[in-house]
Parts: sequence; structure tokens; C-alpha cells
Amino acid sequence: MHLTPDQTAAFERDGYLFFPGHFSAAEVALLNAEVPALYARREAYNVREKGSDAVRTNFAAHLYSAPFARLARHPRMVRPVEDLLGERLYLHQFKINGKMAFEGDVWQWHQDYGTWQADDLMPSARAMNIAVFLDDVNEFNGPLMFIPGSHRRGVLEAGHDVTTTSYPLWTLEHALIAQLVEQAGGAGRFDAEGHYLPGGIVAPKGPAGSMLVFHSCLVHASTSNLSPWNRVSVYLSLCAVSNHIRRFKRPEYIAHRRFEPIECLPDDCLLAQSAVELPWAQGMPASALETSPDPIQ
Ligand code: SIN
Ligand code: MN
Repeated sequence: MHLTPDQTAAFERDGYLFFPGHFSAAEVALLNAEVPALYARREAYNVREKGSDAVRTNFAAHLYSAPFARLARHPRMVRPVEDLLGERLYLHQFKINGKMAFEGDVWQWHQDYGTWQADDLMPSARAMNIAVFLDDVNEFNGPLMFIPGSHRRGVLEAGHDVTTTSYPLWTLEHALIAQLVEQAGGAGRFDAEGHYLPGGIVAPKGPAGSMLVFHSCLVHASTSNLSPWNRVSVYLSLCAVSNHIRRFKRPEYIAHRRFEPIECLPDDCLLAQSAVELPWAQGMPASALETSPDPIQ
């Protein structure tokens, strides 16, 4: 799957692309069936919500779960990003975010590249996020919100938020968010029929299997999930091989340390259950928890 010139232009303008229903219900079912057992594991790679047992984010499932190992090599996810970055890619981060019914907490406004630069010494923003919805995403279960075009501002000044949620993040001041939203179209408006036309905040919604591609400098956030519906989504963070991280300050299950280019599997790999290696099938190696404040040599 490759992008059209119109899609590339839209990405450059807005910083994201949305592909509703990109994976079939049968493909999503195979992925979804794995999630409860993965979330039940008492492992460092399952980060739970503050004061709750609900999983906020599960890291690196592609190293110990076959369906997710296939998804991490899926051409429908990897090829569009290869097109956008014009280079082979390695997988910097893999996560399955829960945003579970009633329990899923907020993600404050941030840029992902802010964290990758500050913590992992990733040299530039030649990296991209892809999200695949494993549940329907509607206006009630905490859809991801974007400020369209905000990626064009580059890296914005951020502060390290280690208190709001259970997961530390470099987040942006509310005054800056208000300014960015205003510049991107403000509050939006209602047309004569009462339909809302978005302005400076958009929240792409769609059925399970939908896919979002977004720039690593695109400013985004999500509210808590007070609905009775989970909003499980898988996120791949893909980085140009030449732009690999230069520091292992965070554990390997969060920021990966193998920079070989991704070899895609066939398009039917999920349903065909293509063979994949699972290096952490017997458990995470102790080395994955070793970290260093120093740049790698
Ligand atoms: C993220 O920004 O990494 C996750 C946001 C979300 O899942 O809502
Ligand atoms: Mn993010």
C-alpha cells in the first residue's frame, strides 16, 4: 500500500492521515483476542493506571505475542511511513494502550518527539506514529485529539510531567495549547443544520480496524474514558534507520535498541498466521531493564 500525491500533501499540511476500516473485522478479532491475557501479566511492561489495576499501556508485545509480531511487520502500516520518510524504518516503540471503560485516564497535550529527543537522544523528528483502533472509537471513549498543522512548529518547549498520570511524559503548557488551537482554526463552528465543523482540534473517530498515521511533532492528547466501552489502540512508532536513538536511558521494552530495518510480511499475514520470531516468548531478558544516562558509543 502506497500513498497518493494528494495524501502526501494532506499529511504535510495537517500532520496526520486517517484510514477508516483499514483492517478487517476478522484481522482485528485476532489481535483483540490476545489483549486480555497480555494485560493480565504482572510484568514491568504493563503500566497500570494511577490507583487502578486497569492497564494504561502495554509495551513491546511484538516481542512475545505472535499476532502483534505480525502487525509490527504489516505492509499496510509500514509502507506508507516508508513513503513519507523516504527511508527504511526500524521500530522504536510498540504499545497497546488500554483507555479502558470508566478507568482510562487522560494523556496530556504533548508531542511524542519531545520525549524521544529529551530521553532517548533521537537526533531528529524523522519518526512517525501509527495507531490502529482495536475497538470502535467514538466521541465518548476518549478519542485521540490533534491540533492540525502543529507539527510544522517543530519541537516545542515542554515540561516533564511525572505526577498527573502513571506514565512520565514531556507535556506542553496550556497557554501554548490555547495559542496553537487558535492558530489552527479556533473553536470550530456549527453549520445551519447544526453539524459541528472542527477548527483547531480534530478527533478522528471510526470503527475498529481504522488506522491513523501522525507526525512525531503533531501535538496530541486524549481525555479520560468515562464511557462503558474500552478504547484499546495499538501504536507503532517507526523511526528512519539513520535516525536511531543515541541513548538507552529508558528500559528496552519502552525504547528499542535494535535498529535493523523492518522486513514486511505479506498483506495477509494476520489471517494466514505467518511465521514470526518471538525473542521474549520465555520472558524479558534482564538486559532490557538495564539503562544508562550516557550516550551510546
Ligand atoms: C499517546 O499519546 O502516546 C497515547 C494517547 C492515547 O492513547 O490516547
Ligand atoms: Mn503520544
